[in-house]
Amino acid sequence: AHLWGGVLREYADRLGVTDASTVVTLGEGGTPLLPAPALSRRTGADVWVKYEGMNPTGSFKDRGMTVALSRAVEHGAKAVICASTGNTSASAAAYAAHAGITAAVLVPEGKIAMGKLSQAVAHNGRLIQIRGNFDDCLEIARELADHYPVHLVNSVNPDRIEGQKTAAYEVVEVLGDAPDFHFIPVGNAGNYTAYSRGYREEAARGVATRVPRMFGFQAEGSAPLVRGEVVKQPETIASAIRIGNPASWDLALEAREATDGYFGAIDDARILEAQKILAGEVGIFVEPASAISVAGLLERAEAGIVPAGAKVVLTVTGHGLKDPQWALRKSDGTDVQPTVVDAATSEVASVLDLQPVT
Ligand code: F0G
Repeated sequence: AHLWGGVLREYADRLGVTDASTVVTLGEGGTPLLPAPALSRRTGADVWVKYEGMNPTGSFKDRGMTVALSRAVEHGAKAVICASTGNTSASAAAYAAHAGITAAVLVPEGKIAMGKLSQAVAHNGRLIQIRGNFDDCLEIARELADHYPVHLVNSVNPDRIEGQKTAAYEVVEVLGDAPDFHFIPVGNAGNYTAYSRGYREEAARGVATRVPRMFGFQAEGSAPLVRGEVVKQPETIASAIRIGNPASWDLALEAREATDGYFGAIDDARILEAQKILAGEVGIFVEPASAISVAGLLERAEAGIVPAGAKVVLTVTGHGLKDPQWALRKSDGTDVQPTVVDAATSEVASVLDLQPVT
């Protein structure tokens, strides 16, 4: 059996060598790429899901964080800083803890999921809630990194994109080629940029015969790339992508152009519906922001844009356990009430409509 060494060791030749003594890894990458027959049936395409919730801190951020933290340590940094809607802060805090340095994390007050907040605290992050949104947090993080001895690990740091592009390598390795379409959530558009780069490298190396059309999705209330302008007050229940001024805006437009790609907007109700379909029919539980890949596919397939038999990969970016409350919410806005019965076998059998075997 091959024991996975994390993305820096697995792809050392492709990422530019980092001094082996400073590699900071928690074993990220090597995540499952799973067929999703229920989604193939619904769309007529051949649909696969790249399950990034299986990374060590439960999101794709770990692929970039291993590179960013390793380089930070290599350069002698004693502290890193990031702005975050939750997942970046969880990942930065965990990797900094492993490296034995400090992570300062700036998050919008009251707007990040409880699981992610717990992770940042558990990993000894210096957590600061900002009275403002993510875009305000990022501006402050960038200014601090410019003027103080703290190393920025947001995706404006190119090391992050370098690490994240390895997910595209893995897709090509498993499928034997690039897919026809790749669907992905978009916040800062760092990951959209990263996959585009990874796929283009694989095509340039001759390992893939094509580059997939990159289809990125934003929540209806925070869709600056779709609208073509900054959204001042972004809103969505998908808190991970509640971003009005994407940091990788220009890179994302370039990648869309180069891949004959697309940016679309999806409303919150459809995001939650897609989350239920993926969990209930495929067995993969993701946070709302990640479910937008599924919602985007269903919408584009319905619009006739995805041909029958097309090979489609969806990236689902973060684990459902980070923000579990939405799974319990019914479409009428009330919460699911689990059935309660007395501790008697006959009671349970009755609720389950089971008849005794004769
Ligand atoms: N999905 C999840 C679960 C995320 O946490 C993020 C971004 C995205 C998608 C979008 O990726 O920004 O590269 O376009 N989360 C960042 C954070 C902003 O702070 O955790 P992107």
